[in-house]
Amino acid sequence: MRYRKLGNSDLEVSEISLGAWLTYSGGVEFDQTRACTDAAFDAGINFFDTANVYGRGAAETAWGEILSGRPRDSYILATKVYGPMSDDPADQGLSAAQIAKQIDASLARLQTDYVDLYQAHRFDVDVPIEETVEAFQQLVDQGKARYIGFSEWTPEQIRAAVEVAGPDLFVSSQPQYSMLWQAPEAEVFPLCAENDISHVVWSPLAQGVLTGKYRPGEPRPEGTRATSESMGGFMDRVMTDEVLEAVQRLDPIAKDLGITMTQLALAWVLRRPEVASAIVGASRPEQVHANASASGIELSADTIAAIDDALGEVPVKGQTLAGWARDGVRRR
Ligand SMILES: NC(=O)c1ccc[n+]([C@@H]2O[C@H](COP(=O)([O-])OP(=O)(O)OC[C@H]3O[C@@H](n4cnc5c(N)ncnc54)[C@H](OP(=O)(O)O)[C@@H]3O)[C@@H](O)[C@H]2O)c1
Repeated sequence: MRYRKLGNSDLEVSEISLGAWLTYSGGVEFDQTRACTDAAFDAGINFFDTANVYGRGAAETAWGEILSGRPRDSYILATKVYGPMSDDPADQGLSAAQIAKQIDASLARLQTDYVDLYQAHRFDVDVPIEETVEAFQQLVDQGKARYIGFSEWTPEQIRAAVEVAGPDLFVSSQPQYSMLWQAPEAEVFPLCAENDISHVVWSPLAQGVLTGKYRPGEPRPEGTRATSESMGGFMDRVMTDEVLEAVQRLDPIAKDLGITMTQLALAWVLRRPEVASAIVGASRPEQVHANASASGIELSADTIAAIDDALGEVPVKGQTLAGWARDGVRRR
């Protein structure tokens, strides 16, 4: 496993990391969650990404139980705040009160005194950015969060936040990024590079689509996310025949290189130096090992060009699955 520096922090995160979204929030049994997490450590993965809202605390609780059995300095722990934590409409977002309440709840569930990375899951357009920045800064000052990041912020929102916070507070951005969703390359990547902010990208396998296991015109394999009642709904928008056919055109490229489509997809994401880590979800320990083995694979310019040709216009038709995101910035 290779490691990359996260923005201007002193964190060195594994190129492949493990995420908890639809898996360890309830879709995957606890014993299997433990097996996947143990497999991650075996494979050299040191970076773990979750959120308060994943299963409304369930994913953090599961990892709290599992990770607390290991030395705290053997893993880099990231969680997020923003999503609704109850049916009370006030119990969400990035107000100072909500951030203060949610970090304590997350730390209790995660059975730790601090998280390494605390991320704004989205931008809160109803709260002045100054209030959000001050609340995050306070967590750093209190030692509850070592570093701060954000997810799915627009360029306007990133600029405003960095202007208020100065150059040091934000170290990471978490956008959706994969062969099928390349949008962050246009503005978000260069803007963050200017500000020494790295990316830890989500759904780099497009939720499993880029492994090649879903074939156009064929039934979806049983036991996969796409056939899961609780998880599959998020995938329907990307599972068109046009997308699945384009993905199958990647198969000969991977075969020529002697690698799997999964390795090809993850190496493609990691070809960009702006990306510090690809956050991959896994429902089985074998998947964790398969994904980790993509670290260190370098793709030539010819391979990148062949991938572009194979995908054609598909990536620009990719749709972000990022719910909640809203444009705009509120100032004091
Ligand atoms: N910031 C945000 O708003 C946001 C949004 C979404 C996700 N995330 C983060 O990003 C992480 C990853 O996202 P994700 O889980 O959607 O995306 P992903 O990594 O693209 O897909 C993961 C799923 O693909 C399948 N898979 C993984 N490795 C495989 C392999 N080697 N062979 C075959 N199938 C494989 C598994 O599903 P099955 O085995 O069930 O098919 C797995 O659960 C999340 O856990 C979360 O931490 C963040």
